[in-house]
Amino acid sequence: MAVDLLLGLQWGDEGKGKIVDVLTTDYDIIARFQGGPNAGHTLEFDGIKHVLHTIPSGIFHKNALNIVGNGVVIDPVIFKKELDALKKFNLDIKSKLFISRKAHLILPTHRLLDAASEASKGKAKIGSTLKGIGPTYMDKTGRNGMRIGDLEMSDWKEKYRNLANKHEAMIAYYNVDIQYDLAELEKDFFESIAELKQLSFIDSEEYLYQAQKSGKKILAEGAQGSLLDIDFGTYPFVTSSNTTAAGACTGLGVAPNQIGDVKGIFKAYTTRVGSGPFPTELFDEDGETMARVGNEFGATTGRPRRCGWLDLVALKYAVIINGVTELMMMKADVLSGFDTLKICTAYNYKGEKIEHLPFNIEAENVTPVYSEMKGWKEDLTKMSSADQLPASLQDYIDFLEKELEVPIKIVSVGPDRTQTIHR
Ligand code: GDP
Ligand code: IMO
Ligand code: MG
Repeated sequence: MAVDLLLGLQWGDEGKGKIVDVLTTDYDIIARFQGGPNAGHTLEFDGIKHVLHTIPSGIFHKNALNIVGNGVVIDPVIFKKELDALKKFNLDIKSKLFISRKAHLILPTHRLLDAASEASKGKAKIGSTLKGIGPTYMDKTGRNGMRIGDLEMSDWKEKYRNLANKHEAMIAYYNVDIQYDLAELEKDFFESIAELKQLSFIDSEEYLYQAQKSGKKILAEGAQGSLLDIDFGTYPFVTSSNTTAAGACTGLGVAPNQIGDVKGIFKAYTTRVGSGPFPTELFDEDGETMARVGNEFGATTGRPRRCGWLDLVALKYAVIINGVTELMMMKADVLSGFDTLKICTAYNYKGEKIEHLPFNIEAENVTPVYSEMKGWKEDLTKMSSADQLPASLQDYIDFLEKELEVPIKIVSVGPDRTQTIHR
């Protein structure tokens, strides 16, 4: 059985958590392949809203196994909080949540380094979630990192101490005002590690290979979005992992020829949280309406998300980079009520009209060229089948499918599990 992928095509927060939860009924295993607790994946059902950061979004389904892959970075403190929040739902976590031995650990000093690095950048800051993601991946690629498997060795505390000491010297180098009590942070960290060790650590690449061989259906869950990819995103305003399809191969140990469907998910408009270029960003009433109706606040940091029209140039780029085979359009309900909708179909780039994503998409280089479409007024949130969708929305979908040359298989019309229309 091939491994299917689900990943975000914009700047994150497309609704991956919701859709993974919806799709889990069709899968035996859900495996996160990159990122860490910078992610906030929201799921809603039975009137309850859940936000997951590291734990895969299949966790609420009885029969699905959930794997945190080697490409993920884990903060034991946040992980423990996630586990605590799930306790009241009696999910039998121990038998259905496994962690790769090769996943890297976020130390308290990684978080401090993130804060120091951002503070030192002043106005040029990335707008990081400050979860220690960048510094942890730096230690990974710098070959200094600590991995989950290290926790099974007797000398892990020594390793920890050496690395933390080095980080403290680095924090001092930044020469910024960062207040912290490391002893207090470590107390929390060591307690959380004790809890983490109650779970099964596995050689996840081997586990997934065997599962695949025995016919299990596996869905790889991405975090962040394609435009936050370390290589293909709006560098340096990106995260520190490969959020694109190739990241699932390295983040789980699945060979490229074993990848099946690539499910790409996007909002019917665009949002971004944190700094960095955003050509279709709106600073007017339309943008405010999207933010208000879409309740656009970060699931991890609570920061307001920047909003704008759908950027088809960027979306095409993401479809190509990922080899997307089917699309899912989220938050269509948020666009109900606009007289006219705009879709960015090209950029004016240094005086020339282009239809691909150039090296620089900052406002001084790029202005969006828009096509206009008629909006719709109907409330979509109670609709349950494709034939109920208003004609103007159908036109919007047809236009996107024609431009992107990939079918839109799901249209999401609300945050709840049930507000999902299959086409
Ligand atoms: P993720 O990081 O990709 O999992 O997305 P987030 O959970 O950070 O952000 C998506 C937000 O939109 C969450 O608050 C979801 O509950 C919500 N959401 C998902 N799909 C829809 C939808 O179709 N309509 C509306 N109105 N909200 C949605
Ligand atoms: P999910 O999985 C949206 C953004 C941050 C910042 C940049 C770098 O919920 O879609 P980092 O913490 O990685 O150093 O931040 O990336 N960012 C996200 N934006 N959704 C996310 O995850 C994000 N994870 C990181 O806001 O701009
Ligand atoms: Mg999110």
